[in-house]
Amino acid sequence: MANVIDSVKGRFHRELVANPVTHGWVLNLYRSGERYPQRVCDYFQSDFAPTQELAAQLRQHAADEDKHVRLFSQALKTLEQPVIEADLGDVFNEVVRSFTPGTFHIMEGDPAEVRRRKLANFLAHAHHLEKRVAQSFAYHMDACERSGKSEIARLVSRTKTDEDRHVQYTRATVFDLLTHREAQAVMDQHRRAEARANLSFSQRQVRAFLAQFAATTPKHRQWLFRICATIMETAGQYV
Ligand SMILES: [Fe+2]
Ligand SMILES: [Fe+2]
Repeated sequence: MANVIDSVKGRFHRELVANPVTHGWVLNLYRSGERYPQRVCDYFQSDFAPTQELAAQLRQHAADEDKHVRLFSQALKTLEQPVIEADLGDVFNEVVRSFTPGTFHIMEGDPAEVRRRKLANFLAHAHHLEKRVAQSFAYHMDACERSGKSEIARLVSRTKTDEDRHVQYTRATVFDLLTHREAQAVMDQHRRAEARANLSFSQRQVRAFLAQFAATTPKHRQWLFRICATIMETAGQYV
């Protein structure tokens, strides 16, 4: 099954990259995900970290995401495509949160234990989300390389290097902040939320894509996108 999913996703990205307008569309989706932390108040709450080391890691993480926004803006400029700010409902982070119970938002009056739990939940959320995004970047970089868009592949690769680091430290920190049993339960809860969001997000975005590009997308490609989406949605039940 993994090989089938691999080749379907690879094909999907190659199709998107083949046309600058659809390529711009997917780069804007990525960019909107990178911008998400700037649009909410509860992502990198470094002031409430229990150690100076974690506070510094959270500040670094926030700065990395700001840098990624600039890298995707640059990629869009390279393609001569406009920057388009997505509605929050079209941002993957927001979709993941719609399947996530509870809140990360730390209040001044929260006792140390509640602050710790909210930070751990945020980091587990970030871990699963960034893992998915990093996988998507790998498909995208490969598609760019194959079609000779090495400048964009290089920009996405710089982003992916940071995302891989984020995936590592977020998981490790959840296990530092909580007992082993609590950490496993929190990781599990956010893994499930992300998996459900992934299906919902792909369905919504394939529909949005077809609504927007039906006129300029040849019929056989429209069918291909529909088939790709169906296979990914079905496969998603098993991954
Ligand atoms: Fe990022
Ligand atoms: Fe990241």
